[in-house]
Amino acid sequence: MTQRIRKAVFPVAGLGTRFLPATKTVPKEMLPVVDKPLIQYAVDEAIEAGCDTMVFVTNRYKHAVADYFDKAYELEQKLEKAGKSELLALIRDVLPRHVRAVFVTQTEALGLGHAVLCAKPVIGNEPFAVLLADDLIWNKGPGALRQMADCAERENASVIAVQDVPREQTGSYGIVATENFNHRQGVISAIVEKPKPEVAPSNLAVVGRYVLSGRIFDLLEKTKPGAGGEIQLTDAIAALLKEEKALAYRFEGRRFDCGSRIGLIEATIQYALDHGDLADAAREYMTQALKGA
Ligand code: G1P
Repeated sequence: MTQRIRKAVFPVAGLGTRFLPATKTVPKEMLPVVDKPLIQYAVDEAIEAGCDTMVFVTNRYKHAVADYFDKAYELEQKLEKAGKSELLALIRDVLPRHVRAVFVTQTEALGLGHAVLCAKPVIGNEPFAVLLADDLIWNKGPGALRQMADCAERENASVIAVQDVPREQTGSYGIVATENFNHRQGVISAIVEKPKPEVAPSNLAVVGRYVLSGRIFDLLEKTKPGAGGEIQLTDAIAALLKEEKALAYRFEGRRFDCGSRIGLIEATIQYALDHGDLADAAREYMTQALKGA
């Protein structure tokens, strides 16, 4: 995979039940952290990694994501007339000019593997990225996907993001077994979806960032429903390992599980404390609130 990735797939067809009632009408990927929806952080990370084609796998309830990336003519005109050029730039920049958005529909919710397979006609046979927007990764240096894309190019391999989790949590993640894992990366020898702690091959958990060889699509087509009765991306990756090299990559940065309420709260605190205009006020309020707690 000496080829640089250009296309990024964003599965956004999940239900987001942990955020009901908010997600009754707002897809979970549109929930904001400070002033940007989760999907925007993931798209920015993909652009920074060198991608110029964003493929959103949506379902019929997810118009909000398409609307968000569409041009907002009326709003742009109003802001232009009012001379609000900074705000205008903000809404125009949701997708820079050189980046295109493609929407693919997943008609049935058959699992993450199935969602990725829906992007096959757009990706073809080239290496590509998958980003799960509810895993928000904060880093002061290069974004997680950029680090992984560099590694994929260097090592000519698929690359899967991992982080250490407490053993009792293995049942919530894909878990990898690795060979020659130095501090940063290692060759994946096995991968299992959501194993119980007693049988988990390690406590290195898959985080929602993948750089995958185009070969994965043929394997996904043959993948039978696995954990939870769903077509799992993890199972297709397990099949890929038999044919090609795949690396587990412990990225630099901090991952927030914004698919959970506490993760979204933690991310909001972190991004507020890191925000040029808001940091001081946020810190002051947090100190006050903790005194009263
Ligand atoms: C998915 C993947 C899992 C991975 C996780 C990361 O699970 O199937 O392998 O560890 O994302 O967030 P989900 O959280 O969608 O159940």
